[in-house]
Amino acid sequence: MYHKHRERLLQQLAESRTAAVIPTASHKVRNHDCEYRFRPSSDFWYLTGFSEPESVLVLLPDGIASDEEDSKEIKSVLFLRERNPQVETWTGRRLGLELAPDSLGVDEARNIDELWTALPLLLKGYERIMYRSGLEEEFDREINGVVKRLRGLARGGIMPPIELVDTATSLHELRLFKTDEELALMRRGAEITAEAHRAAMSTCQPGMNEYEIDALLEYTFRRRGSTGAAYTSIVAGGENACVLHYVENNSPLQDGELLLIDAGAEVDYYATDVTRTFPINGQFNEEQRAIYELVLEAEQAGIDTARPGVEHKAIHKAALGVLVRGLLRLGLLEGTEESVHEDQSFRRFFMHGTSHWLGLDVHDCGAYTVAESSRQLEPGMVFTVEPGIYIDADDESVEARWRGIGVRIEDDVLITPEGNEVLTAGIPRSVQEVEDACKSGALETMV
Ligand code: GLY
Ligand code: MN
Ligand code: MN
Repeated sequence: MYHKHRERLLQQLAESRTAAVIPTASHKVRNHDCEYRFRPSSDFWYLTGFSEPESVLVLLPDGIASDEEDSKEIKSVLFLRERNPQVETWTGRRLGLELAPDSLGVDEARNIDELWTALPLLLKGYERIMYRSGLEEEFDREINGVVKRLRGLARGGIMPPIELVDTATSLHELRLFKTDEELALMRRGAEITAEAHRAAMSTCQPGMNEYEIDALLEYTFRRRGSTGAAYTSIVAGGENACVLHYVENNSPLQDGELLLIDAGAEVDYYATDVTRTFPINGQFNEEQRAIYELVLEAEQAGIDTARPGVEHKAIHKAALGVLVRGLLRLGLLEGTEESVHEDQSFRRFFMHGTSHWLGLDVHDCGAYTVAESSRQLEPGMVFTVEPGIYIDADDESVEARWRGIGVRIEDDVLITPEGNEVLTAGIPRSVQEVEDACKSGALETMV
């Protein structure tokens, strides 16, 4: 799969006389002497499937001759760490230069320590260099140094590069359209995420704490072989659900309140992004059910809108239309549909967008607008649909019975030639399904 990704990008690079330099992420310090678990950069992973730090992929569409006779031209060079048994005892095993070409399918492996001396020679003669600046200052500085050295060669008749091209051009456009192999990973993520949300629904009881459910989600993700949560899980009981990026996850869960969980498994670094909201005691009360059903209707309207040829922004429009009509019907908003859209008073209760691309990054790459218009949906695109209603606990302009209710429902949708497929459809969603899942008994899902 990663080899195919490289081949596709190389084809595009060849058309524009562009070489690419794609570094992985750097280690991030958590606190003194401790680092976060390493995660490769999504661009690098997409093109290599290699998860060691201190690696850089260089793609050269013109190719360079190999030292070995009869060997093919070298178009992909992976710079990586050399084997070092002493260091590996401390920091873990390394693939090493010898095994990298066979193991990863790259044409050549070189020592990462030689990167900056080798790059000017490799990039010589290309008009453009694909490189994403602004991520690592030191890398940016070194790349600028390489460009400067290449300019110095101009007197000798070698054209220096005229442009640094961002990965948002061809690479991110490739990543936007998922192949069957990528979708298989995303389907696996959806399955594991379904198990985690079901486990949360069936285990949750009044008197537990948000952190217990957070731990159960992570446990379920990891025990099924996922790399863990695709982003910091949101486990928000009661009015915590009205804080959109609530991640403290440390409050007691109260009888009679809702629990909003926004959590998804990451499989081979591909993200799932799902939100479910359910009653902590297993039964919606009247107001909670009214809000829940409204958000569900809005989500369904968004999903029903999504098919090839429809603009991406139509999803938000469809969901928002349902929410506005419902909020007026429930007496939570005043005015007419037109006036509410005009004065945007819905923003008190629904203040975020309805959809974003999904893939290796939870907010995945790919342009949302093309020629100043919202982009039309095409088969292979995957995105979320995630409307919500959040009624502040201190909002005295609404009746007390509504205050502190926060509901979001979020699913992951693939555009198919015929319409769409909800990848996360296996997770309880209707009022009945959710209440049944809450009743199903913790042990059943845990063994
Ligand atoms: N979990 C991040 C989001 O829903 O966008
Ligand atoms: Mn989302
Ligand atoms: Mn989410």
